[in-house]
Amino acid sequence: MSAGAKLMGIGVHRASRVVPNSEIVDRINSTDEWIRTRSGIVERRWANDEETVEFMATNAAREAIAKAGIDGSQIDLVIIATVTHFLQTPSLATKIAHAVGSTGAAFDISAACAGFCHGIALARDAIKGGTSTYALVIGVERLSDITDTDDRGTAFIFADGAGAAIVGPSETDDIGPVVWGSDGGNYDLIRQKEDWMELVTSDSPGIPHLVMDGNPVFRWAVFTMAKVAQETLQKSGINADDLDVFLPHQANLRIVDALARAVHLPERVQVADDIIHNGNTSAASIPLALHAMLADGRAKSGDKALMIAFGAGLSYAAQVVTVP
Ligand code: UT7
Repeated sequence: MSAGAKLMGIGVHRASRVVPNSEIVDRINSTDEWIRTRSGIVERRWANDEETVEFMATNAAREAIAKAGIDGSQIDLVIIATVTHFLQTPSLATKIAHAVGSTGAAFDISAACAGFCHGIALARDAIKGGTSTYALVIGVERLSDITDTDDRGTAFIFADGAGAAIVGPSETDDIGPVVWGSDGGNYDLIRQKEDWMELVTSDSPGIPHLVMDGNPVFRWAVFTMAKVAQETLQKSGINADDLDVFLPHQANLRIVDALARAVHLPERVQVADDIIHNGNTSAASIPLALHAMLADGRAKSGDKALMIAFGAGLSYAAQVVTVP
């Protein structure tokens, strides 16, 4: 058992192909201007053939392990959040555990864009409860595989990449209690269009594309996540003035800005904006954003950060963490 848990290291894999808006717009009768003003996205990154979810997750994991200063064999829990590992079984997590030298418990979770924060919550509770000492939590997606490039509502948003964190024991609560939940009444707002059985038995089998009713999701996110953010701060016993970094899921820069205003963040708080150059990478977006902010100095070790993620389900999870 440990009094608390902490983030010890963050690692990423950024997909290699940079895709500017100009490459997307013609097929969906859109413009660079529309995409920038409505979503904040200037370009996104899509994986090449070599950059499978396994490849990207392993690279991100190795960097996180090196940064944490532990050996892969010390990891006794591996949790992978993804919706783009196309084998229903076995999990991607067992494969990645093996790749990094761990024989720990390993499983995948499906909580879409909120998956990374769910994984951090599970790892924190396992460490505090004494069933894990070092956990590896990864968010990884190849959303370009399930994006319909002719769909005006999604073609410009989704992207690929991986982000990983090592979670370990701490004498203080450097990962605060999670606030999480779901709104299954809105189950259909973001979803895979067809299930696998429908696809394989169809006359023209194809890719299970994602569909999204963006505007209601947008309104839900701004309204509901503002309350979730306040509740998360309260549960951690702090207020917005105590924060240094704001790390919301990179779904849309307008949602990020609206939440920052709703939470009354002081001007000095650094706000993640990774979506501008990386698009919406779902479960990978928060660790990718944190990694970028650590690299350019906007986030520093010891900073207090509020992570808040939301997406298909609809599902959400949020917690306050100390930046490693
Ligand atoms: O990561 C998981 C969680 N996901 C999210 O949180 C995503 C939340 N949703 C969003 O980010 C936004 O809803 C979008 C960026 C997807 C769309 O922005 P919006 O401001 O909600 O646009 P809208 O769907 O309300 O459409 C506004 C207008 C419409 O035209 P009219 O009816 O006003 O003439 C659409 O036909 O924009 C038009 N439109 C487009 N125009 C150019 C819709 N899509 C496009 C497009 N290019 N791609």
